[in-house]
Amino acid sequence: MKNKILTTTLFLSLAMPLMNASAGSEPEAERQALVKHFMDRFGSTDFEGHKLKIEDFRHGANIFDPDKMAQFKGSEEFPAYLDHLEAGEKLWKKPFANGKTYASCAGFADTKQIRAKYPFFDDGRGEVVNLDQAINECRTANNEKAYAFGGKDKDLTKVLAYLANESRGQKISVAINSPGALDAYNLGEMVFHTRRGQLNQSCANCHIGSAGMRIRSELLSPIVGHTTHFPSYRSSANDLVSLQQRYVGCMSSVRALPFPANGKELKALEFYEAFMSNGLEIDGPAMRP
Ligand code: HEC
Repeated sequence: MKNKILTTTLFLSLAMPLMNASAGSEPEAERQALVKHFMDRFGSTDFEGHKLKIEDFRHGANIFDPDKMAQFKGSEEFPAYLDHLEAGEKLWKKPFANGKTYASCAGFADTKQIRAKYPFFDDGRGEVVNLDQAINECRTANNEKAYAFGGKDKDLTKVLAYLANESRGQKISVAINSPGALDAYNLGEMVFHTRRGQLNQSCANCHIGSAGMRIRSELLSPIVGHTTHFPSYRSSANDLVSLQQRYVGCMSSVRALPFPANGKELKALEFYEAFMSNGLEIDGPAMRP
């Protein structure tokens, strides 16, 4: 864990006091420090008639550019993902070959009460369970083929979009209350702060240290808010992109060999990023460039 504090000078000043106190074992203190870090940097920025609040961070990089925010709002009026939402709903309601539906699986009865429960750490199984995985486990329990992960199966992303939309307005609330959950958090944190690839960049370099700055033509989003709005509809790809798929994309963009989508590392990363977004509204799916 020590290497992580060397990733950026900006992060150094943020992490040092915490490292002394807790050696990375105080997720809530780390989250609050991160929020304070962003509020110290951006809290005096005007955003839609008020000073930027942490709740606004669900809009990603749009918070740094009024023109982008206006474009985003315009695109959300008749969003390009409407067909995908409808397709996701159909998939959700379509009976499996055995006659049952997703609603028969544990915790899946009420579509409005699903998205906000994920990701969570399952102590019995000793692993992070995210929604992608839970959907697949429901399928295989009903003798259906699992969807391929990492964007290889479009149907999974459509189902994710439908469930995200059903839970709009609810808040991210990831709990860490066991040693296993803490280990997963620490693994996710390490993945986030480790430099990698030919460009030798960590997630933190771009999404903490350089948040609000431009890389080529793109404004960089802060980590806080990263998990609120997925799957996102990327106009550049003309398609829905899941959070796991985005992780793989960002790893490839620094020319690193990506971890597999929904493997241990990227589920831990999702757990860490979701914890850092605690208290923010779920508003997926959302348009992104
Ligand atoms: C070299 C810089 C760079 C690195 C390193 C990088 N990303 Fe990104 N990332 C981007 C850019 C550019 C975008 C698109 C603009 C934006 O939304 O930030 C992006 C977008 C994202 C988004 C979507 C944000 C949104 O609002 O939809 C997530 C989530 C994300 N990155 C996570 C990660 C994670 C996790 C890592 C480490 C595995 C990582 N990124 C590494 C540059 C980077």
